[in-house]
Amino acid sequence: MHFTMNTLVLATLAIGQTYAATVGHAHHSAFHSHARKHDHIQPLKRSTALTSSDSSKLTSLGAQVGVNSASSNGNAWLSDDGPYKSNFINDAGEDLILVCWGVAGSWINAVQPTITASIASGESLTVSFADGASGACTAVYSDTELVNGQASNTWMEFTFGEYGVVDVSREVNMDGHSLSVVGPQCTTNMDTCVFVCSSGTTCTTGYDLQNCANGSQSGANYGTYDGSPSGGCGGMGSSASLTTTWS
Ligand SMILES: *[C@@H]1O[C@H](CO)[C@@H](O)[C@H](O)[C@H]1NC(C)=O
Repeated sequence: MHFTMNTLVLATLAIGQTYAATVGHAHHSAFHSHARKHDHIQPLKRSTALTSSDSSKLTSLGAQVGVNSASSNGNAWLSDDGPYKSNFINDAGEDLILVCWGVAGSWINAVQPTITASIASGESLTVSFADGASGACTAVYSDTELVNGQASNTWMEFTFGEYGVVDVSREVNMDGHSLSVVGPQCTTNMDTCVFVCSSGTTCTTGYDLQNCANGSQSGANYGTYDGSPSGGCGGMGSSASLTTTWS
């Protein structure tokens, strides 16, 4: 786990809640910023975000199904109206399940994720995040497994806020799928502003923040917290739209 400059906890810590059901891909376009509709009242939960087959898949992996709030909940919700948001693009060539969690929520076997949403191949989905929201997102591919209750893939870690950062973390699985996050000032991907294990394919200590020195790109920051590297892509300002691409 990493810490930002203002010591908010990143990624591996988070929260959890209720249960959301399933069915159909029909409303995906409602999340696209260019296609958002205001002609109906948004339900408290977005029951259509996760297909029933993806719900079953999560269950068989041992993961919980997410809250999938359709409106601001102080964490992450399925809309484009938040101060911070990311469009998650599926360029992976296969259907994915986006999974996001909050503080101390990476153990998705035990803690309900904030978001579990189906993103068909070639589609995208926008998730809003509250100011101060901290956690991570990953994607379940056809080969993704849970290891010790965590999704064994590449993670996008975030703490949103004026002094927040996002980063790509490969600590859980150095062989995970490719991920890039483009922010207003700074890009983090598999090589840049990325947490990598110093050795081995998984690590909880003995990691480094690679190619993210101050000044290496606008918004990049590299510091230490409690003797370990911390930082990532900052420069988000009081609101930001990110583009996160799975490939
Ligand atoms: C990078 O900049 C931050 C913010 O000014 C500072 O806290 C940190 O110590 C700097 N890192 C290095 C390695 O100088």
